[in-house]
Amino acid sequence: MLSPQTEEPILTEEIIEEELEPTDLEEAVDNVERAVPAIEFRDVYLAFDDKIILDGVSFTVRRGETKVILGRSGGGKSTTIRLILGLLKPDAGQILIDGEDITDYSEVEMMEVRKKIGMVFQEGALFDSLSVYDNVAYRLHEQRVDEEEVEKEVRRMLKFVDLEDAIDKMPAELSGGMRRRVGIARALVGDPQIVMFDEPTAGLDPPTARTICELAIKLRDLEDVSSIFVTHEMKNVEYLSSEHATVNEEGEVVFEMEGEELCLINTEIIMLREGKIIFSGKDEELLASKNPYIQKFMRGK
Ligand SMILES: Nc1ncnc2c1ncn2[C@@H]1O[C@H](COP(=O)(O)OP(=O)(O)OP(=O)(O)O)[C@@H](O)[C@H]1O
Ligand SMILES: [Mg+2]
Repeated sequence: MLSPQTEEPILTEEIIEEELEPTDLEEAVDNVERAVPAIEFRDVYLAFDDKIILDGVSFTVRRGETKVILGRSGGGKSTTIRLILGLLKPDAGQILIDGEDITDYSEVEMMEVRKKIGMVFQEGALFDSLSVYDNVAYRLHEQRVDEEEVEKEVRRMLKFVDLEDAIDKMPAELSGGMRRRVGIARALVGDPQIVMFDEPTAGLDPPTARTICELAIKLRDLEDVSSIFVTHEMKNVEYLSSEHATVNEEGEVVFEMEGEELCLINTEIIMLREGKIIFSGKDEELLASKNPYIQKFMRGK
């Protein structure tokens, strides 16, 4: 091995200036940014009175990744989402969004953070007295955006969820699946880079549930969105873990199955039980798990 003294001195800065084209530099900066998780929980604890909900939970959601959260009812899934939105504060531990520690952020500071997060609520949560247009436009109207801009954006979002024809309808005129899709369109206004889905398919028939999964896959693969997808339906896990979206030569979005040798699906799963993460990994690992609790959960018991 060469001793340090015998080596040529390396002038790092000069080398970078000489060898890296501006585009390389941009790429390098981009890569550093990509390395910062979109969401990170570091040893998070939360209890309501003496009931422990999260008991030292740590996980990350990378850029462009979908993290599926599985767990029984009352297992702390929606609570996890409320912590990310800063609607609740942990008793201990840290929560980071895009590398920013938001744990002790004030309500005013959280309002800035929430602007980059889209939220799809457990029940769709539309305003019944407002039309589809006004529901989707809600945030933009709040921000007093010019109406011409608002209309363009609302139409773009409704196109994404394939509901352009419903623009003038009232929520009461829509089916459950359509309401859920309007909820998704509303969450996507402003192109948030983080989207949280809280049981977006609960109570929907299988084909409609699949449509919702396809929307999540499109966001993941075509928009590089990082998301949390709370569910207890294994079919959703299967779709999100085995298909990916691309655009074909005709410009249409198509869904392809994961190839045998390819592993490009950016979805991982965590399972919560009694406040702890008892599983973290890919769907194949989940399916192969020998843990009796996990096996029972997957069989719907
Ligand atoms: N503000 C609160 N005060 C007291 N207890 C709460 C509060 N919010 C949630 N809980 C309790 O925390 C636990 C976790 O609730 P959470 O809503 O996170 O469950 P979940 O995993 O989303 O369940 P589900 O699948 O039914 O939606 C539940 O026992 C709930 O009763
Ligand atoms: Mg919940």
